[in-house]
Amino acid sequence: MGVRPIVKVPHDVLRRRALPVRRITASLVALIGDMGETMVAARGIGLAAPQIGVSKRVIVVDIGDERGRIALVNPVIVHRSGSEQEWEGCLSIPEQYGLMDRAVDVHVRGLNAQGQAIDVHASGLLARVLQHEIDHLNGVLLFDHALDWEDQRDSKE
Ligand code: NI
Repeated sequence: MGVRPIVKVPHDVLRRRALPVRRITASLVALIGDMGETMVAARGIGLAAPQIGVSKRVIVVDIGDERGRIALVNPVIVHRSGSEQEWEGCLSIPEQYGLMDRAVDVHVRGLNAQGQAIDVHASGLLARVLQHEIDHLNGVLLFDHALDWEDQRDSKE
């Protein structure tokens, strides 16, 4: 299928708790590929399956570092530490930004697209994006826990 449309607020798929993936099938691998293409086309650094209307626990992230694109199925944060506030955007909430408090370091465990268990240890921006995308799997959006909010939709004529 390739690039898919990105679902925006207030679509209710973004508010649902996404279902765990039980088996890695060919269609799941295709979904992960489409998510990667969609993320790149939107110039995003992360995307969760609910953002293309699929209520499954799958995320892709790519902050443009040497780790490249990381796909995680059924990701779980098993450890987090530190705390840091930065502004974040979301492809599903265009032109709005939330000041978010996130852990600085996270250890995320999940499956890769081949169904193998993987551990991702991340800091800084990558840790932040992982936390953002995992929030999406739980139906949590930026404005649910933003410390401050900026809406740039009004500033454009
Ligand atoms: Ni988002």
